[in-house]
Amino acid sequence: MQNKSQIEFWNGDTGRNWVAHDALMEAMLQPIGEAILDVFRFEPNARALDIGCGCGHPTLSLAERIGAGGSVTGVDISAPMLAVAHELTVTSAPDRARVDFLEVDAQVHPFELASVEHVFSRFGVMFFEDPVAAFHNLHAALIASGTLAFCCWQSRTVNPFMTVPAQAALELLPPPPEMPPNAPGPFAFAEPDYVHSILSQAGFSDISITPLRHALVFGAGLSLTEIVEHLVNIGPIAQLVRDAPEALQQPVRDRVANALKPFFTDRGGINLEGQFWQVTANA
Ligand SMILES: C[S@@+](CC[C@H](N)C(=O)[O-])C[C@H]1O[C@@H](n2cnc3c(N)ncnc32)[C@H](O)[C@@H]1O
Repeated sequence: MQNKSQIEFWNGDTGRNWVAHDALMEAMLQPIGEAILDVFRFEPNARALDIGCGCGHPTLSLAERIGAGGSVTGVDISAPMLAVAHELTVTSAPDRARVDFLEVDAQVHPFELASVEHVFSRFGVMFFEDPVAAFHNLHAALIASGTLAFCCWQSRTVNPFMTVPAQAALELLPPPPEMPPNAPGPFAFAEPDYVHSILSQAGFSDISITPLRHALVFGAGLSLTEIVEHLVNIGPIAQLVRDAPEALQQPVRDRVANALKPFFTDRGGINLEGQFWQVTANA
């Protein structure tokens, strides 16, 4: 079975925790997804895929931009996240494209050939075991004049949202095991040459990979203590803290809160700049 460990990962604690923190995550990631959606030029009745659609918010945004007459399919492997996505579509919206969700692996699912004009993803395409095979599969779903646009993280080291809490936690906890540089995960696409090579091997042309900077605002309206409590359940230090002994739970939280203090404002949450790649290509 392909992507077995990611399927387990996104159907386990991570998927359930993402659902529990859906509103906070969405508030943080929404502006980045909108910046990627700005890339597309939608024709009337356009058809699109949202790959790794998660809880479905960007899928709906895509459907709203396309409008009535079009269709959008959100694709994900996480049952708990797709359950949230399904709920979002319970309220009908006549001005929106039709929205469907599929619980399938985008790397191997036999999408109808040449059936969509656009493939979009907000942080959902860095988790494939075989990224060339996956993008080849997505390429086959696109019509000849189709377009691809997605965002992915630049390296962890240029993203203080990742490094600041992690460095504070690592003052007390042992480091996690080193991952191979392109292992499936949030930072698998940090190297633009690697992304370019995947897309060109998969058949894409006119590949463009441009840096995108955006504020990552997390926990607006919450106290710093509340924010840290969320961050130990979802985000860069969740696994580290989950595995930590009971005696270190509070000291780690205190260190993380202290490290995040300079980035915190009352009512504004924590605000750290994020660095991403905006990737576009033609079929
Ligand atoms: C970081 S989350 C992003 C979710 C959503 N796009 C968002 O921005 O809120 C990554 C998503 O990719 C999904 N995913 C990972 N591997 C996948 C695969 N092979 N096929 C489809 N979805 C996948 C995960 O289940 C998860 O929902």
